[in-house]
Amino acid sequence: MRTPIFAANWKMHLGPTAARDFLRSFLAAVPEQDDRELWFFPSAVALEAVARDTEARADVSVGAQNVHWEPKGAYTGETSVAMAREAGAVGALVGHSERRHVFGETDEETSRKVRTLLNAGLTPMLCVGETIDQREADETLAVVRRQLSALGGLEVDALTRVLVAYEPVWAIGTGRTATPTDAAEVHRDIRAWIAGRGVPAGSVRVLYGGSVKPANIADLMAEPEIDGVLVGGASLAPDAWSGMVQVALD
Ligand code: PGA
Repeated sequence: MRTPIFAANWKMHLGPTAARDFLRSFLAAVPEQDDRELWFFPSAVALEAVARDTEARADVSVGAQNVHWEPKGAYTGETSVAMAREAGAVGALVGHSERRHVFGETDEETSRKVRTLLNAGLTPMLCVGETIDQREADETLAVVRRQLSALGGLEVDALTRVLVAYEPVWAIGTGRTATPTDAAEVHRDIRAWIAGRGVPAGSVRVLYGGSVKPANIADLMAEPEIDGVLVGGASLAPDAWSGMVQVALD
C-alpha cells in the first residue's frame, strides 16, 4: 500500500510572512492523519519558516524547489543541499518543467541533483513530462524515459527512496489536465522503467501534476496508478488546498 502524497509547489509565491499566514489557517483546518503525506515546496527564503511552523506535524514534509549539486562555492543565486537541509528541507523538486524550459536545466544536471540529494539523505522528487509538440508527435513515453535516465545507475535502495512526478508540460498552469486514463498510461510506463532496474514496481510513488484543482482531484486520486498530486496554482489558497487534501482517499 503506497501512502498518498499531496504536494504543494508554491513556485515564486508566498514569502515567509504569507507562508506563515497560510499555514495558520491550513493546519487548523487539516487534522494530522497518518494515511497521507503532505509536502510543501516553498521558496528558498520561506523554507525555514515553513519547516519551523510544521515541525509538530508528523504528516508534513518540507522540500526545496531547487538545489545545486555542488556543496558550496561561487554559484550566485543557488542553494546547496546542506543549506536546504539546515533550513529544514527533507527533500527537493528536481527537473521541474519550469527549471527545464525557463532555466535550461539539462538531464545531466537533474541527474547530479538527484545523486547529491540522495547522498545527503534527502528525497528527490523528479519531475518528468512532455510538451504538447512531443505529445502530438507521439513521443511522450520516449521523452519521459529519457528524463528518467537521471535515475540511471542508482542502487536499488537509493531508487526506492525517489519520488517521481509526471507533469505534462501542456497541463501546467494552463487549466488543461491529462485525463486519469492518459496519466495512468504514462505512470504505468514509469513504473515499468523503474521495475526494470530491480525495484519492485509497487514500491515507488508516482504523482501527477498539471492543473490539478478542486474539480478534478477526486477523479485523479481515484485512479490506482496515481499515488498523489503535485499542485501549483490551486495550492496557494489555504481554503482550496485544505479541501483538496481532504478528498476521499478510498
Ligand atoms: P499547476 O502547477 O498546478 O499550477 O498546473 C503544477 C506544477 O507546476 O507543479
